[in-house]
Amino acid sequence: MSVLESPAMGRRTVSPGGSISGQVELPGDKSISHRYAILSALSQGTSEISNFASAADCQSTLECLRRLGVPVESHDGLIRISGKGLDGLEKPRRQLDAQNSGSTMRMLAGVLAGQQFTTTVTGDDSLRRRPMRRIMDPLRQMGAEIQSSAGDRAPLQIRGGRLHAIDYTAPVPSAQVKSAILFAGLYADGETTVRESVGTRDHTELALSEFGAEVVTSRGMVRIHPRPRLLARKLVVPGDLSTAIFLIGATLLLPRSSLMLEKVGLNPTRSRVLDFLVSIGAPIRVPSLQVRDGELAGSVSVTHARLEGGTISGTQVAEMIDELPMLAALGPFTERGIEIHEAKELRVKESDRIAALSEGLRRMGAGVEEFPDGLRVEGCSAGKLRGAEVDPHGDHRIAMALAVAALGAEGETVIRDADCVAVSFPEFFTTLERLRGVEKP
Ligand code: S3P
Repeated sequence: MSVLESPAMGRRTVSPGGSISGQVELPGDKSISHRYAILSALSQGTSEISNFASAADCQSTLECLRRLGVPVESHDGLIRISGKGLDGLEKPRRQLDAQNSGSTMRMLAGVLAGQQFTTTVTGDDSLRRRPMRRIMDPLRQMGAEIQSSAGDRAPLQIRGGRLHAIDYTAPVPSAQVKSAILFAGLYADGETTVRESVGTRDHTELALSEFGAEVVTSRGMVRIHPRPRLLARKLVVPGDLSTAIFLIGATLLLPRSSLMLEKVGLNPTRSRVLDFLVSIGAPIRVPSLQVRDGELAGSVSVTHARLEGGTISGTQVAEMIDELPMLAALGPFTERGIEIHEAKELRVKESDRIAALSEGLRRMGAGVEEFPDGLRVEGCSAGKLRGAEVDPHGDHRIAMALAVAALGAEGETVIRDADCVAVSFPEFFTTLERLRGVEKP
């Protein structure tokens, strides 16, 4: 077996080599699943969501909604949510726990800002270290009272009430912040506008329209009309491209590999990573495309190739934010390496991703230069990569990026605390092994 599991320790041993082949359908997109769950809860009637994300983060959102009195049933990726309408949420008896999920905490904060009760939202150690000022400022401007721990960190105590509409220019490009304001805008006394100088994923805008809200978008601006009557929907979540990227990365670096991914989300605000990979020589094709529930999805084929490498900066950073760990870990397998700039947001994700990637890739023998706002991973160094014991710092995307790099190293790599992959892709190791032709007995 190529990936050895020692569950008690949460460690995984990844041995290199093999090749990827076959076809795969991935669990639902994490970002879209959060939004569909929240909007279903605020709608009239029962929504059915198919291919809901298996990600632990989305289970955190469902659990918070249950604590707010929303009936949620779940069977094998099909979720049924009995909506309570905009004003039907109940004051929870206990605090809400977003666990590791920034999206849960930040987006729900927008909804809680509009409730006539006080709620406390907490999270795990990682989430309690992440910046919350970015949502506290606009929600306070709208009239919510929010208390935080020192340094504007969670737990957040949110006292909702009557909200005022605002016209807000987001200082950091963040879809979570935009979404928090738009959700609060559902409860405001007029039209709420969010302006962004760098575009971020637009799933909230699309989902709000699907549920019947009046949303107007134009370049860099989104405006929501308050107090819509949201109606329950039957929705299908496309596969998660930010999860697919790890399998695409494995296919690109392992010789003789070829993979077809079906029904993957290809929303243009998310698919820039594929354009980037194609621009550095990746043989990626999209043989079919369709729109469902306002979201673009399709099949994606990829085969092994030698990549040139390149630089990522400016608006590309926000557009590929969750894919940067995988791109950095592909660096040693490219001709020129991968260089990332203007990405200091990476330092405030589930871990400090710049530090965690630099440490992990260096331990494996890669040449890495760390900058305050990015890193450079030397190219043509695949031959120097050797298996090592690496620490993903509890961060799912770091664990998966290092596991993929380990496929191209010499010797085995041990990934500590590898269970953290469940935050976005619990099936990561089993899927990887199935596609490498290695199944558990
Ligand atoms: C997300 C937005 C991004 C992304 C996160 C999911 C979302 O975060 O990194 O994984 O679903 O809106 P930011 O809003 O902090 O950029």
